[in-house]
Formats: sequence, C-alpha cells, structure tokens
Amino acid sequence: MPDPAVPDPAGLRQGYHTGRLETDQLAATWVEQFARWFADASTAGEGVPEANAAVFATASADGRPSARTVLLKGFDHRGFVIYTNYTSRKGRESAENPFGSLVFPWYALERQVVVIGAVERVSRAETERYFASRPRGSQLGAWASHQSQIIESRDVLDARAAELTARWPAGTPVPTPPFWGGLRLVPDTVEFWQGRSNRLHDRLRYRRASTADLWVVERLSP
Ligand SMILES: Cc1cc2nc3c(=O)[nH]c(=O)nc-3n(C[C@H](O)[C@H](O)[C@H](O)COP(=O)(O)O)c2cc1C
Repeated sequence: MPDPAVPDPAGLRQGYHTGRLETDQLAATWVEQFARWFADASTAGEGVPEANAAVFATASADGRPSARTVLLKGFDHRGFVIYTNYTSRKGRESAENPFGSLVFPWYALERQVVVIGAVERVSRAETERYFASRPRGSQLGAWASHQSQIIESRDVLDARAAELTARWPAGTPVPTPPFWGGLRLVPDTVEFWQGRSNRLHDRLRYRRASTADLWVVERLSP
C-alpha cells in the first residue's frame, strides 16, 4: 500500500500559462536577454528566493557527469562566474575536462535558462577582489573546508574553523586561499525556456556561430 502522506510524483502536474517568448521580444545579445530575465527573477519575491542559484554540471575526463547548486557571482559578455574550491570535485573535473553547463531554475516564473560552454579560471586579481568582498565568516569557511573530501566528523571541521579564526583574529585581513577561486562558463549556447500550455513550451537559443563573436538565434522544439 502506498503511504498516503507521500505524494505520488506521477500525479504531480503543473500547467504553464503565464508567459510566452517570441524571437522579436528577444534582446540583441544573450547577455542583455539574461540581464532582463535575471532582473525579473531577482524581483519575483518569495517564489524565487535565490535568483542567482543555479545547477552547475561538469564531467570527468572519461565523461561521467556530476551536478550541484552554486551561486552566480557575476556575468557579462565573457560569461558566467561562480566561485568554488579548485580541489573540489567540480574544480577537478572542470580542470581535466574544461566544459560545463549551468541551469537557472526559475520555476515561479515558469522559466529556465540553460548555458553550455567551456570553463576557464578567472584571473587571480578578479578572485582576490571578490574574496575581499566576502563576509569574514565565509572567508574563514573557505580556508576551513577541504571541499568534497571525506571528513571524519563535524567536530574536525569545527576545530579547523576555530584554529583558523585564532590564526586570523578580527581586524586581520584573511588572505585568499590559493586553492579557491572563480570559474567562468564561457557560453557556446544560452537557451531561454518559457513554459507554455500543453507542454508546447518556447525555447529560444543563442548559439555561437563561429569562433568570432557571431551569434545566431534558433527556436528549439519543446
Ligand atoms: C543554494 C546553494 C548555493 C551553493 N553555492 C555554492 C557556491 O557558490 N560554490 C560552491 O562551491 N558550492 C556551493 N554550494 C554547495 C555545492 O552545491 C556543493 O555541495 C559543493 O560545492 C561541493 O560540490 P562538488 O563536490 O560537486 O564539487 C551551494 C549549495 C546550495 C544548496
């Protein structure tokens, strides 16, 4: 007997009716279009609590994928910037196989943006500028975490954090960890998805047409 308190996912259904996306509504560049939708998501209120949260997928050298949520910390015509530990799984995978994908899941707006492209490290200067802007607790947290490694217990992590807090007491600047920094996803494609009724969604994709900065817009079947 299925537990009545656990909803059957097969029965969960949501229709999408709030918007549409036509080629003539699109901005001239993906970056301007992303800026518009990011502004909408950022002002959507409780439905989109963290508009800059996105799922970042990487793959190992032998093509095994992995994905996790990250926070977007910048975007411009060069691409999308996130920050992480370079020795983490995503850090290692994006070094050995420098391609990735980001999905912005803005369900409350019945929208998603899917970016696919190459992954590169941001400059050290850019990383240091961003690290300096972070709250002190996050700076110390970056030092304390050997991200993605197996750890014996929570106590080990808390003890390491306490040691680091003593090493850099309040008022002392915390240096940027050498193993921590930014990754930029340099898009080959940026797809804007707007849910429509009967699963006949709108999908418009900017695709880099050549190595030069020439982009085409294509409609994809939903
Ligand atoms: C809302 C949210 C935001 C997150 N932001 C980041 C981030 O910006 N950078 C990061 O390294 N991990 C972030 N994480 C943690 C990652 O999802 C992940 O657990 C961690 O980076 C280790 O991933 P990996 O072992 O696959 O490399 C976030 C998690 C959540 C739920």
